[in-house]
Amino acid sequence: MTGSPLPTRFILERYRELLPVTDRTPMVTLGEGGTPLLRSRSIEKELGLKALYFKLESMNPTGSFKDRGMVLAIAKAVEDGAKAVICASTGNTSASAAAFAVRHGLKAYVIVPDGKIAMGKLAQAIVHGADIVQMAGSFDDALNVVRELATRHPVALVNSVNPHRIEGQKTGAFEIVDELGDAPEILCIPVGNAGNISAYWRGFQEYYELEHARQLPQMWGFQAEGAAPIVNGAPVAHPETIATAIRIGNPASWDMAVDARDRSGGRIRAVTDEEILEAYRRLAAEEAVFCEPASAASVAGLIRQHREGADLSGKTAVCIITGNGLKDPDTALGVTAQIHRAEADLPSVERALGWA
Ligand code: F0G
Repeated sequence: MTGSPLPTRFILERYRELLPVTDRTPMVTLGEGGTPLLRSRSIEKELGLKALYFKLESMNPTGSFKDRGMVLAIAKAVEDGAKAVICASTGNTSASAAAFAVRHGLKAYVIVPDGKIAMGKLAQAIVHGADIVQMAGSFDDALNVVRELATRHPVALVNSVNPHRIEGQKTGAFEIVDELGDAPEILCIPVGNAGNISAYWRGFQEYYELEHARQLPQMWGFQAEGAAPIVNGAPVAHPETIATAIRIGNPASWDMAVDARDRSGGRIRAVTDEEILEAYRRLAAEEAVFCEPASAASVAGLIRQHREGADLSGKTAVCIITGNGLKDPDTALGVTAQIHRAEADLPSVERALGWA
C-alpha cells in the first residue's frame, strides 16, 4: 500500500518565483516550511467561529517560525560572500541563525539579553557552536549594538531588519492560502519586533494581487501588556513579560506593523501575562498544542477580543503558533501538576493512582 506523496519541495524552491532567489543562491534547507494547519477542537466552538486553525510554526526544524526567514537571509548572505552572521535575539532568532550557519559552514555570533532567554533556546545556540554574548539590557539594546557591529566588522546582520528575513517569512501566508483555498477572515499573531506580522501581511497581499486569494485577512496582532509599545504608541524603556520572546520595547518593524493593521482593518492590542498563561494552558490541555508563552498571546488575544464583543460568527481565524513549548521548560514546569510518588512495586503505583 502506498500513501499520498509527501510534499518534497522546500520553501525556497516551492515559492522561488516570489522570492529573491537567483541561480547563485545556495539552495540549502533544514526542512523548514510546510507546517501543519491544525483545526481547533475546543476553542473554536466556544468563540462561535466557523473555523479556527493553529498554524504550527513550532514544527519548523529549530522549533520556531524564524527558520522561514533565516533560510533565505543566510543563503543570501552566503551568495554575497559572507563568512559570518550576527544577530540580537530573545532566543529563537539566535537558535535559527546558529543552525543555518552550521549548515553553510559559517560562524554565528549571537547577542542575547542576559537572563531573559528561555533555556531551550540558549541550549540550541550553544550546541550549534555559536559565539554567544549575554548582554546587560534588553533586546532593543542588543539590536542597537549588532546594527553598529555589522557596519564595523565583516559580519552579515540577520535580524529582521535584513529584508530577506521578511521575504522568506511571508511564505507562511502563502501556505495558509494554498491549504485553505483563500485567506482567512482573521489572522492572529504575536507581535514582538514586528517582523512576522509585516511579513504575513506582505504574503497575503502578494497572493491577493496574483489572484491566488479572493480576500485579505484582518491582521490582529497581540503584544504583552508590559511590552506593548505599538498599543501604547510609545517605546517601552523597560519591557517586562513572562513571554520573553516578545519582551521588546521598540520594535524595528513598527511602521510596517501599523501599516498592516490599518490597511487590513485590523487591530494591535495587549494581553496580560495571566491571559497568556491561561491560553498557554488551554492550548496544551484542550488542543494538544504545546507552544511557548509568546505564541499563546495570539490565542489569548483572540479570546479577549471575543470577550470584549468582537463578532466572530461565520468567520475563519488562523492563529500563528510561533514557537515550540519545549524551548521554555521552566514555564511548563510552573503549571500546577499532579505528580504522584510511588515505591517500585505494583500495589504502590496502584495506590498512587487511586486505583487501590
Ligand atoms: N513568537 C516567538 C516565539 C518569537 O520568538 C518572536 C520573536 C515573536 C513571536 C514575535 O515575532 O519579532 O517578528 O514580531 N522573536 C525574536 C527573536 C525577537 O529574537 O527570536 P516578531
